[in-house]
Amino acid sequence: MNLDGKTTVVTGAAGGIGAALARRFHAAGARVVVADRDADRLNAVAAELNAIRPDSALAVVADISSEQGNIDLIEAARAKFGFINLFFANAGVAVGTTLEDTDEATWNMVMNINTHAHRWAAKHLMGEWIAAGEGYFCSTASAAGLLSQIGSGTYSVSKHAAVAFAEWLSITYGDRGIRVTTLCPQGVNTNMLNPPDATGIASNGGSAVKASGAVLEPADVADVVYQHILEEKFLVMPHPEVHTYEERKVADRDRWLAGMRRLQAKVSGL
Ligand SMILES: NC(=O)c1ccc[n+]([C@@H]2O[C@H](COP(=O)([O-])OP(=O)(O)OC[C@H]3O[C@@H](n4cnc5c(N)ncnc54)[C@H](O)[C@@H]3O)[C@@H](O)[C@H]2O)c1
Repeated sequence: MNLDGKTTVVTGAAGGIGAALARRFHAAGARVVVADRDADRLNAVAAELNAIRPDSALAVVADISSEQGNIDLIEAARAKFGFINLFFANAGVAVGTTLEDTDEATWNMVMNINTHAHRWAAKHLMGEWIAAGEGYFCSTASAAGLLSQIGSGTYSVSKHAAVAFAEWLSITYGDRGIRVTTLCPQGVNTNMLNPPDATGIASNGGSAVKASGAVLEPADVADVVYQHILEEKFLVMPHPEVHTYEERKVADRDRWLAGMRRLQAKVSGL
């Protein structure tokens, strides 16, 4: 899909990958609705984009951890720019560690943000998209959604579910004009991987990510995503090594699991 003149929505766009996606889509000529629960950083992103092209960006302070939060965001975007051509469910959190140390409230919160938010957004976009015979749903999952996340059950499970949802969406609605792309990066240099406080990838998870391959800059990831959207390709894997790890996983699960246990032991000793 060519994004010139299109309306796009990006969640989790106050910084990191989401802000980089918003800047990339905007540079391609799109109108951009940026959404996040962090109002100050979000407003700065919208102001930056509007300074480049007046009235081309809208900041919507939103909490997408509920169905109503997603409905309110979609309604605000439509009220400003009309038909939403592309929705990017990118907001995510990396909290939760082991079974012993993660309570029910944390499991529910992570599943709501990393998985159910995608479903809620798609649910409230699909009617209009099916009627129009077009619509583009994108999500940020993670390499952890294809492999696993050392140290975090919540992150592993919620991101696998996000990949599963994106695949199912493409299978179910692809023949009705709906396009789907999901982003599965490994390490990206954002607050999540390098937190200014204690909210980033928990425990030894960040060390495992950094030990597994290159840490990319958000703008470079956004460039790769943009190319995949132009070509309407499903899976964006900015780290080529993830493909190799996936092949090894599929070839021999027991060997792959043993290797993951060795990596876990290594990073917990770092
Ligand atoms: N950084 C990495 O190494 C990495 C790797 C793989 C996947 N990801 C995924 O990329 C996506 C973007 O993360 P990032 O790395 O840019 O980190 P980030 O922390 O900079 O960005 C995440 C954004 O989501 C927002 N957010 C979280 N919960 C929200 C909610 N309930 N409502 C509205 N906004 C909410 C945060 O305020 C933040 O601005 C996430 O889905 C993350 O899981 C990141």
